[in-house]
Amino acid sequence: MSETPQKKPWGGRFHAATDRFVERWQASIAFDQRLAAVDIAGSIAHAHMLGRQGIVGAHEVEQIVAALEEIRDELAHGTFPFSDALEDIHMNVEARLIAKVGAIGGKLHTARSRNDQVATDIRLYLRDEVTALAHQLVEFQRVLVDQAEVHVEVVFPGFTHMQTAQPVVFGHHLLAYYEMAARDHGRLADAYRRLNQLPLGAGALAGTTFPIDRLGVARELGFDGVCRNSLDAVSDRDFAIEILAAASLIMVHLSRLAEELVLWSSPPFHLVHLPEGYCTGSSIMPQKRNPDVPELIRGKSGRVFGDLTALLTVMKGLPLAYNKDMQEDKEPLFDALDTVHGCLTAITGLMAGLTVNRARARALAGQGFATATDLADALVRTGLPFRDAHEVVGKLVARAEEAGCDLAELPAATLTDLVPGADPDLLHRLTVDGSVAARVALGGTAPAQVREAIADARIALHHPQLP
Ligand code: ARG
Repeated sequence: MSETPQKKPWGGRFHAATDRFVERWQASIAFDQRLAAVDIAGSIAHAHMLGRQGIVGAHEVEQIVAALEEIRDELAHGTFPFSDALEDIHMNVEARLIAKVGAIGGKLHTARSRNDQVATDIRLYLRDEVTALAHQLVEFQRVLVDQAEVHVEVVFPGFTHMQTAQPVVFGHHLLAYYEMAARDHGRLADAYRRLNQLPLGAGALAGTTFPIDRLGVARELGFDGVCRNSLDAVSDRDFAIEILAAASLIMVHLSRLAEELVLWSSPPFHLVHLPEGYCTGSSIMPQKRNPDVPELIRGKSGRVFGDLTALLTVMKGLPLAYNKDMQEDKEPLFDALDTVHGCLTAITGLMAGLTVNRARARALAGQGFATATDLADALVRTGLPFRDAHEVVGKLVARAEEAGCDLAELPAATLTDLVPGADPDLLHRLTVDGSVAARVALGGTAPAQVREAIADARIALHHPQLP
């Protein structure tokens, strides 16, 4: 950053220089330089429009655009001379433009304000980021479906309250996360539609006196339309908040998966192996294989929720229209996007290499009387009301617990004593495979159902509706 005092583009009515601390403290250039490429794209479209509308001469527009393209190269090559005295990316670029083409560079800002400029830049930036995130979600979903296919018959313990509940197949469990990711993707696509409206042309807040062509600028920049109210165009950041909310839900989902991976991979569970490239060792305990990646994903969810809360709080008390508070929108937004990108990359790689300890999974799936509901269902099929069947099986579970055996190992008479006329074979026909295979209703864990869900998912992933 250059330290030489700079003439401020807004300096006309000032007598005193900006306090040196304030100058540095209020500058956003350290973080909003990320917007450089989109800022220049927006400026070029604005310059073209000024030329088309005869607001600035065609020859001047040519010079301005050529210089903006040079500046774009300087930024790309890291040779652009940033200055924090110039506050933000918008004024840095404008000052550089004027340094290159002289006073006519000052014509670029005709019919424009930094307020509509920054709102446009963030939307342009978010468009690319949201598209990249949506692609990453699709990659993650592909891995989940591939792994679901590999594990379509692998019996796995299903829990409620973290107590053994009913057996499932692991493929079904993975597809639960596929569904969450599909909704996450839908939320991004939905937010994208509202995001893709052009604020430029709103001016500082009230619109402009020049005969601009907002629709033409929107077309050139690939926006679907223009923000219809100039005050709203420069005032709201709801589009950014929506993305942060969608990002937060992605993190809720990833964090739950991460928590399961931490549990499943811990030696007392011993249900899955995380790929070694995604684990770390301990500097003191040689036996350790720590699940740092899922732990960090779980931990990083906190910062994304914090980013959402930060922007909601920044916005909630602001009178219309632009207020400098809104400069605080960028860091949480960038932080959340970086975090979610990183977490999705990590979890996708990890899930691709995940393996299941099948024998252990089968053993745990059968523990804790996991087939008790199946026995109750079987009794219901003989005509017993479900509540009575529940009561009978509850008693049988208590007997089995006393005897230290499984339901299937109880003597047949324990059942026929309670339900005279019941098929004595019901007990030993209870198996975890039978339990999962029987759950054939739509959306259930029967391998036949899971195969259909995989086929549907493959079709959906073949033509993902990317924003
Ligand atoms: N750096 C500012 C921001 O990010 C740009 C808009 C400034 N507008 C103004 N009138 N001070 O919000």
